[in-house]
Amino acid sequence: MEEKESIGVGLMGLGVVGGGVAKVLLERSDALARQAGCNLRLKKVLVRDADKPRSVTLDSSLITCDPQQILSDPDIGIVIEVMGGEQPALDYAKQALLGGKYVVTANKEVMAKYMAELLEMAAQEGVGILYEASVGGGIPLLLPLQEGLLANEIRAIYAIINGTTNYILTKMSSEGLSFGDALREAQQLGYAEADPSNDVEGTDALYKLAILASSAFHTTVRPDDIYCQGITSIGERDFRYAKELGYEIKLLAIAKKVGGSIEVRVHPAFVPTDYLLAKVDGVYNAVQIEGDLVGKVLFYGEGAGSSPTSSAIVANVIAAAKAIKRSEAMVTARRAVGAPAASVVGRLSNPAMTIKPMAEVETRYYLRMSIADRPGVLAQISGILGDRSISIASAIQKEADAVAQTAEIVLMTHPAREEFMQQALRDMERLPVVKEISNFIRVEG
Ligand SMILES: NC(=O)c1ccc[n+]([C@@H]2O[C@H](COP(=O)([O-])OP(=O)(O)OC[C@H]3O[C@@H](n4cnc5c(N)ncnc54)[C@H](OP(=O)(O)O)[C@@H]3O)[C@@H](O)[C@H]2O)c1
Repeated sequence: MEEKESIGVGLMGLGVVGGGVAKVLLERSDALARQAGCNLRLKKVLVRDADKPRSVTLDSSLITCDPQQILSDPDIGIVIEVMGGEQPALDYAKQALLGGKYVVTANKEVMAKYMAELLEMAAQEGVGILYEASVGGGIPLLLPLQEGLLANEIRAIYAIINGTTNYILTKMSSEGLSFGDALREAQQLGYAEADPSNDVEGTDALYKLAILASSAFHTTVRPDDIYCQGITSIGERDFRYAKELGYEIKLLAIAKKVGGSIEVRVHPAFVPTDYLLAKVDGVYNAVQIEGDLVGKVLFYGEGAGSSPTSSAIVANVIAAAKAIKRSEAMVTARRAVGAPAASVVGRLSNPAMTIKPMAEVETRYYLRMSIADRPGVLAQISGILGDRSISIASAIQKEADAVAQTAEIVLMTHPAREEFMQQALRDMERLPVVKEISNFIRVEG
């Protein structure tokens, strides 16, 4: 191919994602150069341990343990951060931006916590920070929100954005596995880490929802704004009853505009089996976005893994390279008047929005409880719910234990305010006839 000018690329991290990105940059260099309009030259790769065996074979001269070999190299215009964790990733991203470099990152924790600050810094410096891979792996989500859906007012997002928990819930639902057995299987297959708490407690989904919601509503939604509950309390029986009632159980990340405020929450939810989201199985992710003009659109695909995540990262690298070329052209054209170069992604332009407290959120509820198996008990329970204006949509008595003289009942409610439901749960727990409130799960759809 004809000789093109090149942009130096620094890669920080050579693990699952970094290894995939390095492979794509090296093996597809000609095709990428055609897309970017210039060569993308991998100049340095930062790791912790230079002697570690790698999935990708790189010239040893590329490997370094010194971040300054990337951050202080004037020939590197794009820094890809795929180290993970808050620090030193955040510091390196800031140093890169302040040094006039574009940053491409897959780091959901950094972006969820510092998106506004980093976008502002990038805009000030006339560069950009691109983070498509931080949510949904290879599924394009942020670019559609920043471009294709921009004419819409986004009304709601319903997302399955954690593959590990979706795999566990799918196994519990389809094979009747316990949470522990499904988790062990996910760990054996490499879908869950040895310490799975970030996934099963919902933190990973929470970070991704903060990024999605900020991008959808063009305002800052912080991780602390988001209500979060993981999947550890879901039992095999909940799946059995959910199916009988026509639902699947999914860990949903929800962002919804209600009046002038937004609801942002991550929790397990009953989803009607005929909904597309209910059919998203295994490690797959799906994000349903509802816009006032477009209606509902669904994005579905592999939400993690080396190749899908590299797909998103390298697309961002090409976008950054094009922006560099554009701003070089603009700087040349505007040098006479000293105008700044344009950055590739703008700031979060809307003013802060009120986050609706979880106590004020309204949903329907599924309740499973063990009660004394004798007449009049249901009347006491419905009395407590009625006192809080919560009406029962259906009540079904399930298994009875003749020896313990208890019965399991399942209640489905009509929409009710969360704080009233929490008060009712506390009151019901105090009833001598209620042996145990085994679970309560919100119902969507
Ligand atoms: N894995 C996925 O499917 C996926 C999907 C989407 C987004 N992400 C995000 O992508 C990022 C990377 O994930 P990963 O799974 O590729 O992680 P990983 O396999 O653990 O790789 C991390 C890499 O970063 C290097 N590193 C870490 N801390 C460093 C430090 N202080 N200085 C220098 N190098 C350092 C490590 O070096 P050594 O190899 O020498 O230890 C390793 O090469 C994370 O933010 C993650 O959330 C991952």
